[in-house]
Amino acid sequence: MRLSPRVQYEGNVQVKCRNGWVKARGRDLSLFGIKVSLIGGEECKNKDWVKLKIELKKNKAVINGRLYRKENDSVVIVFDEDDRFIADTIGNFLNVRVKEIKRCPYCRNQLTDDAPKCDTCGMPLDFTNLNLIKTLRRVKLADVIAGKLPEEIKEGICREERTEFVGTCSQMKEVFDKIRKYAPSDYPVLVLGDTGTGKELTARAIHERSLRKDKPFIVINCAAIPKELLEAELFGYEKGSFTGADRRKKGKIELAEGGTLFLDEIGELPMEVQAKLLRFLEDLSFERIGGTESVKVDVRIVAATNRKLSELVEQGSFREDLYYRLKVLTIELPPLRERGDDILVLAKYFLEKFSREQGKEILGFTDDALELIANYQWPGNVRELINVIRKAVVLTDKRYIDSADLDIDPMKVSKSISGKGVFNLKEHIEKLERELVEKAYRITGGNVSKMASMLGVSRPTVYKLMEKYGLQNPI
Ligand SMILES: Nc1ncnc2c1ncn2[C@@H]1O[C@H](COP(=O)(O)OP(=O)(O)OP(=O)(O)O)[C@@H](O)[C@H]1O
Ligand SMILES: [Mg+2]
Repeated sequence: MRLSPRVQYEGNVQVKCRNGWVKARGRDLSLFGIKVSLIGGEECKNKDWVKLKIELKKNKAVINGRLYRKENDSVVIVFDEDDRFIADTIGNFLNVRVKEIKRCPYCRNQLTDDAPKCDTCGMPLDFTNLNLIKTLRRVKLADVIAGKLPEEIKEGICREERTEFVGTCSQMKEVFDKIRKYAPSDYPVLVLGDTGTGKELTARAIHERSLRKDKPFIVINCAAIPKELLEAELFGYEKGSFTGADRRKKGKIELAEGGTLFLDEIGELPMEVQAKLLRFLEDLSFERIGGTESVKVDVRIVAATNRKLSELVEQGSFREDLYYRLKVLTIELPPLRERGDDILVLAKYFLEKFSREQGKEILGFTDDALELIANYQWPGNVRELINVIRKAVVLTDKRYIDSADLDIDPMKVSKSISGKGVFNLKEHIEKLERELVEKAYRITGGNVSKMASMLGVSRPTVYKLMEKYGLQNPI
């Protein structure tokens, strides 16, 4: 048995065994396999290789699998290990499904909205991250029970495949310029920006362009770790330094030796740890908790926050000296809504990426969809854009993504669009009016009296409408 996210799935599938394609009912889908009840006395023989046609919300996939075991009324099919297509398709399905049912697919507990990790069991939830999926497919449950969960999963960090950093607007060009300039130096960099604007991507881009690129890039999310544990996580501890410290443990700073330490959400760093971090930045040396020996490391710090650090300084919750130490090299990421044409560039980039990954032939967006994308405020920035487009790609069976396929809140569309386009009531009413008038005209052969009674208006109104829509009065 392995550790696998599993969602309740009830759907028709077809299984190709020796006796050809047979209809079946699929249940309990996971990244590794599916439970299938064969219908009408059909049988698959043990150890058969099978092909499975499976419909994940209109997205049909043919998957190779192997009969794993037989149960009373069903068989368990395990998917072919190395099939990237499976990982993509089912990963995307899980992603959408987990958000819909709002339950953790590992521990079944309630999830908070869009949480990157389950609050209860701590497992990461981004099933479109291929590296996470690959890691999950490697893990055996016995190892998890024995506490041998891979570090990447424990932390919820799974190295993304190299993501392209997309941007053409002047602000983003400035960002890229700074990344190139700052990368080779060893000074700390402070990355600022709202949620989902690409702070972590920026930190990785700096690391990858530095001489440290072959050394570790270690992430620590200061908001996700309880205050009492943060110092130990960062600086490590000596054996016996507190109850439960039964061995020496290296902190993240030491683990990042030679590389980069990314301090995410630095605004949440507790005061005591701020003091220790500042001392560390002075000469790159520190003491483990409970230790007296000074440990020297070669680590570059990149920090990020979506908080206004200057305000935190004013309020007294962030040390001024640390703020000045960090802000020498700063990169500020603009919100997506301020990136002009980049919104559409990114939307098209992700549409192409996800269509390719899903094996779907989607040709583009309709004009309505483009207008909506361009005018929506994107409070969740690039991450929200990715989620909206991924969902549209998974769910649509059309060649063009329409505004109705985009799961966004119309209340957050900027004012400029409310005078025209997708949400314009007048335009929609006129369209409907034209359709009805033309239909009545066709049915009645242009008989004004009949049209008036059909449309429920007076004869003079019918004349006006016919004129408005260029319909001839038949002689
Ligand atoms: N310009 C971009 N081009 C391509 N992908 C991007 C871009 N900006 C962000 N992304 C993608 O958007 C997602 C969110 O980015 P990232 O995690 O870096 O944001 P963040 O600012 O750290 O967000 P948060 O504050 O919520 O932690 C990631 O999948 C990232 O790869
Ligand atoms: Mg982040």
